[in-house]
Amino acid sequence: MDPWYLENLTCPVDGARLEFDGTHLVSGAGHRYPVVDGVPVMLRADREQTMDIIRIGLERANGNVSVIDQRAPDYYLETLGVGEPQRVRLIELVRDGTGGIDPAVSLLVAATSGVAYLHLVGSTTLTEYPIPRIDLPAPRGGYFLDVGCNWGRWCVAATRAGHKAVGIDPSLGAVMAARRVSRQLGLDIKYVVGDARWLPFAGKSFDVVHSYSVVQHLSKVDARHALREVGRVLTPGGTAKIQMAHRIGIRSFQTRWRRGFTPPEKFDVRYWPLSSMKRSFEQSIGPTRVVTDCYFGLGWQWADFGVMMNRHKPILVLSELLKRLSQVIPPLTQVADSVYCVATKPKASCAGKQGTIMSADDPASPACLAHEADDAYMGFATRAEIARFLTELDAAPAAQQADMLRRMLPKIRNDLLHAELSARLAAIMPADSKA
Ligand SMILES: C[S@@+](CC[C@H](N)C(=O)[O-])C[C@H]1O[C@@H](n2cnc3c(N)ncnc32)[C@H](O)[C@@H]1O
Repeated sequence: MDPWYLENLTCPVDGARLEFDGTHLVSGAGHRYPVVDGVPVMLRADREQTMDIIRIGLERANGNVSVIDQRAPDYYLETLGVGEPQRVRLIELVRDGTGGIDPAVSLLVAATSGVAYLHLVGSTTLTEYPIPRIDLPAPRGGYFLDVGCNWGRWCVAATRAGHKAVGIDPSLGAVMAARRVSRQLGLDIKYVVGDARWLPFAGKSFDVVHSYSVVQHLSKVDARHALREVGRVLTPGGTAKIQMAHRIGIRSFQTRWRRGFTPPEKFDVRYWPLSSMKRSFEQSIGPTRVVTDCYFGLGWQWADFGVMMNRHKPILVLSELLKRLSQVIPPLTQVADSVYCVATKPKASCAGKQGTIMSADDPASPACLAHEADDAYMGFATRAEIARFLTELDAAPAAQQADMLRRMLPKIRNDLLHAELSARLAAIMPADSKA
């Protein structure tokens, strides 16, 4: 396994550093994460997954061979989220060795790059990877993270723009495809299987966090949790650039109307009002501006013009024109279908609060209270519980303290407090083992 993983991954349950035992990454508290063909699978089995294929990938990673589609085991077909006809097509592409783009990508291309690619799914016409243009702050020497990277098109774009890219996605098959693509293109990109809601990285690890067509699919609670994780792993002064679906866009309205304005289910797109996007980003990350991504749908990229069908081209041209116009007439963003929230993490943090870096310094502020409610929902301890715990800990005999700390550590979300309590546990361990 690439030593980078050992140096940079942390336990998604309790944030602890990990050791490699030859097959798994293991935390001090005994949480175990399988490593599949060199790729760490940092998923939490104790939580509901956002897609069914994630659970299947986890089962396979944990050695359940019965879930494997044996027709092409190296392509992790059962975890790609494609139907039987596409699976059959992938097997043909693998057998025929067409030599162009990776067979899995040729199947995933419409799921990632949008409807403009529907006519190219499974075809051999696409001979180059569709890599979008990415607009990012200049590299500052730190890492770029793409959350929900799938086969890695944004990681490739960021690497070509001079960033050190890391991609994370809970789909085992997508991450394996991403790794094959980066190898084929000769790019050094690190990929991890993991969930946006529990990023397996220490706080302040990334200068830029990017995500496209991922957070828009999560429930509001999961989305807020993912945003807080983004806020946690960003370096102070770092930037998050996250695409979201906007409720007021023309196409968004049409899609919701077709759905009969019923509440979204599972991985359906959630259309957010601009005001609540801005509020959630500011509470979780920091000052946020919302800019246009595209009009008349989600996912239109100018870089795709050459390969899309003629009937889609006028839509893309009009979308691009409006997007450029919105840069000089910002109110046009108010009717964009897809937007980017660009948030900057402040240099100062909200001290003394269980939870991640926040935009407010006052623990009684609505931002802090909202974070606390989320913490409690996700099973983390509240400030009151922590205060009580610390008093009880000080009063308890050393032999009991170790057990108390072991039980409490997974419920501590704040990196600093976690490190402090882990150090305390390490210091009393000898006393504990003598007892
Ligand atoms: C529509 S695709 C977008 C892929 C990629 N961002 C792109 O633009 O090419 C949605 C991605 O979200 C990933 N995803 C689903 N649940 C997730 C979660 N809980 N955390 C992170 N990513 C998730 C899926 O595996 C899938 O790759």
